[in-house]
Amino acid sequence: MNSPFTLWWDQKTGSICYIDQTLLPNEERIVACRSVRRLAKAIQRLEIRGAPALGVAGAFGVALAASVCRKKTMALFLATVARDAEVLRATRPTAVNLGWGIDRVLEALQDAPTVAAARELALGTAENLFHQDTASCHAIGEHGASLLPDSCTVLTHCNAGALACSSWGTALGVIRSAVKAGKQVRVIACETRPLLQGARLTAWELSRDGIPVTVITDSMAAHFMRTEKIDAIIVGADRITSDAVFNKIGTYMHAVCARHHKIPFYVAAPLSTFDAQRKARDVVIEERSRDEIARIGNRTFVPPAVPVKNPAFDATPMELVSAIITENGIIRPPFAMNDPVPGRTK
Ligand code: MRU
Repeated sequence: MNSPFTLWWDQKTGSICYIDQTLLPNEERIVACRSVRRLAKAIQRLEIRGAPALGVAGAFGVALAASVCRKKTMALFLATVARDAEVLRATRPTAVNLGWGIDRVLEALQDAPTVAAARELALGTAENLFHQDTASCHAIGEHGASLLPDSCTVLTHCNAGALACSSWGTALGVIRSAVKAGKQVRVIACETRPLLQGARLTAWELSRDGIPVTVITDSMAAHFMRTEKIDAIIVGADRITSDAVFNKIGTYMHAVCARHHKIPFYVAAPLSTFDAQRKARDVVIEERSRDEIARIGNRTFVPPAVPVKNPAFDATPMELVSAIITENGIIRPPFAMNDPVPGRTK
C-alpha cells in the first residue's frame, strides 16, 4: 500500500516539506517551508491539517524556529523560539496535538547547554515525534482491524488518514491494516462540508491504495445507515476529554444515527489526542470564516445580510462511543477517563 508521507523535514534545505492538502485531489504539490510565519499560514489555511499531522507540524515548526533563530545567548534564543511557538499554537485551538507537539520540543530545549545543541535537540525531538506518530498509527491500525468482520462496509467522516498524520492514518489506518490482513473493506466517505476533506482527501488516499470508496453527502448518512448494511463507523479525533470526543463537525450527527441503527461507533486516536483532565465545556471550538460556508468557488450562495455559523468541530458525548482504538489497545466503556490514560507518555 502506497500511503503518502504528509510532511517531513528536509535536511538539505533545512525546511519543512509537505503536501498542500488544499490542492488535492487535482494537484499534488510539495511545498518547502522555511519560515514560521509561512507555516502558521499553512496550518490556518489547512494546507497541513488533521490532529496528529498538526502535532508533528508544531514540533517541526519549533525546530524550524530554532534553526532560523540567530540569537547568540541561550536566554534570547529561548525567548525568540518561545514567541514563534506561540504564533503556531494560536493557529488552531481545538486539536490538542498541535500544542502537544510544540510543548514536547520546547521542553527538550530547556536543558540544552548551547544554542547549537538546542537546535540539534529540537530537530531530534521533532523527528522522534514523527516516527512515534507513524508507529502509533500502525499499532492503532492493527488493534482496530480486529474489530472489523472479514467482509464489511465502514462509514467514515472527514479525513483521518495518512494525510492527517505522518503516514498510514488513524481511522483509515484501521481500514488499511484490515485490508493488509486480507479483509475486504468497502468505505463510505462522507464528503464533509464545508471543506470536503472526505470527498477530496479520503477518496484520494483510499482510491490510490485500491481500497473501494464511495463518496456521499453528509446528509445521506442516516439514509444509508437504514438502507444499506454498514458494519461500523470509524472516525478520528481532535481532542478527547473525559466526557466527549471532539472531531470534525458532523461527527456527532453520525454517532447519534449510529446508536439509533445499532451500528458500532469507533474512534481511532493516538494517546497524544487525549486531554482527559478537561471536560467538553472547557474546549474552544474553532469558528472558521463565513466564506467557507457562503461561497463555493467564485459564487456566493448565502444572501449578504444573512449570518452563517461555521464551527469546525463538534463534541460527541462519550456515551455514544462504542470503543476508542489507541496504539496501546482498545478502550471500551465505561471509559475511566479521569484515571491517567494507560501507557501515555508525556
Ligand atoms: O479541520 P481538519 O481537517 O484539520 O479536521 C480534521 C479532523 O477532524 C480529523 O478527523 C481529526 O483531526 C483526526 S485526524 C487523524
